[in-house]
Amino acid sequence: MSGKLATDYPSWAKLQELYDTQHKSLVLKDLFAADPERFNKLSKSYDNASKDVHILADLSKNLVNDEVVATLLQLAKEANVEKARDEMFAGKHINTSEDRAVLHVALRNVGGEFKIPEAGADEVQGVLDHMTEFSNKIRSGEWKGYTGKRIDTIVNIGIGGSDLGPMMVTEALKPYGSKDLKMHFVSNVDGTHIAEVTSECNAETTLFIVASKTFTTQETITNAESAREWFLKSAVDKAHIAKHFVALSTNTPAVTSFGIDSANMFKFWDWVGGRYSLWSAIGLSIMLYIGPENFKDMLLGAHEMDKHFLEAPLEDNLPVLLALLGVWYNDFYGAQTHALLPYDQYMHKFADYFQQGDMESNGKFVSKDGRRVSYQTGPIIWGQSGTNGQHAFYQLIHQGTKLIPADFLAPIESQNPIRNNLHHEILLSNFFAQPEALAFGKDEATVAQELGEQKSNEALLKSKVFEGNRPTNSILFQKLTPKTLGSLIVLYEHKIFTQGCIWGINSFDQMGVELGKVLAKKILGQLGDASKVTGHDSSTTGLIKHFQARRAA
Ligand code: F6P
Repeated sequence: MSGKLATDYPSWAKLQELYDTQHKSLVLKDLFAADPERFNKLSKSYDNASKDVHILADLSKNLVNDEVVATLLQLAKEANVEKARDEMFAGKHINTSEDRAVLHVALRNVGGEFKIPEAGADEVQGVLDHMTEFSNKIRSGEWKGYTGKRIDTIVNIGIGGSDLGPMMVTEALKPYGSKDLKMHFVSNVDGTHIAEVTSECNAETTLFIVASKTFTTQETITNAESAREWFLKSAVDKAHIAKHFVALSTNTPAVTSFGIDSANMFKFWDWVGGRYSLWSAIGLSIMLYIGPENFKDMLLGAHEMDKHFLEAPLEDNLPVLLALLGVWYNDFYGAQTHALLPYDQYMHKFADYFQQGDMESNGKFVSKDGRRVSYQTGPIIWGQSGTNGQHAFYQLIHQGTKLIPADFLAPIESQNPIRNNLHHEILLSNFFAQPEALAFGKDEATVAQELGEQKSNEALLKSKVFEGNRPTNSILFQKLTPKTLGSLIVLYEHKIFTQGCIWGINSFDQMGVELGKVLAKKILGQLGDASKVTGHDSSTTGLIKHFQARRAA
């Protein structure tokens, strides 16, 4: 990457000028009225080679005209997004603070198409084979628990990237999941989480997957120790751990010292970032649930979107376009957040997943070369599945004082077309209606006409007005298959990458999570003894002492 700041690019200043001089005239109602071809011009289709993944991204309901789009594309050029992308795929150490390559693309390099020189890239297939062999044994019942029964419950213990990806995907691909396996995910160090999950498990038939890249994460190790303690209450003999605990990690010594046989460890490499790790051994719970073939399909869908990102010209490149539009709102309109709104119940964890994916990647105020940036970087990502959000927070998106760009995502085909597809048609009519309402609103004259005599009630009249001009992307895909989900995840991964390039930040470290961890460790050592509580401000000291005074003896 260039080591430049976004403000160094001539197009950045041009975008500011365009915003200053034109944003008042960027009115969706007028833009659509002026150009009957707007939808055709600004919607982009993506079809993979085998035509079993289809995505239509309608970008026409954005506050842009030709000049803004051209200048945004110029920004991508000036920021050398293509060069940075090629460097990532070539294994250059673009995670500069940690001097690491960033090679999640190597995990889904189906058929070895990309030549990646980094150490470990040649081991990916071996680990996939190991995962496949293990998954087949569990799924077929060949793998037996310590009393000879087959495994029927999987508990993934991990946090952040070692939890959110597998949890999101197993939810999203439930229709492809084994009916013989119950899936649980334990992440929070709050004892309630592991206690509630184990209360639903039988030690004889449960497999614990301890998922941690570093194998030092306090939450995960504490939960894994508690799971082991719970397990040994029934199994007694430590030798039985080998049948019920496996590890996903880069840290072999820590895994073996925990008591997990290295033969039951599925490895990955330091060039796999936690929030990009679901494609690696961290995806074992996914493979167990949906089976190796579906897992491979997900990798293939991901790889195909990698190729699109590599090969499509910028003006047709979906991740790049989503990224540029995001920059437009984030940096020029001052939008603080971006909502992800999937109209597919199976995707109900999608926004949670990309909260980490995006916010841990691009929530940075320091540039790659250590300068404080003067502009906004990563947005706050949030959202939930439609139509629930409509009855919760859409009020603010429609009539609040904040601009909230949003992505609406929906499948053309439902996995559950019950009652002759009635539910799906209702769902999709909402999916179509909301961006329409957000874009075009309802003016005062229309409200007055609808109100008739009641229009003299000024408060009522005004409160029913929708200003409109709220921007959205509408992303329609054929069906939420493993391949399609793989493609959709990668679409957003590379959007995040592209934005990080433009902002000149390192999207692949996460130093911002460290300080809290260090302080928590220090406080843990003080909690047992009031006289040890030193070195804090009066608020923190007061809170700790209040807790110490009132906790049960
Ligand atoms: O939250 C910080 C973080 O390092 C994430 O980036 C990561 O996904 C998570 O903790 C879990 O880390 P590990 O897999 O090493 O336990």
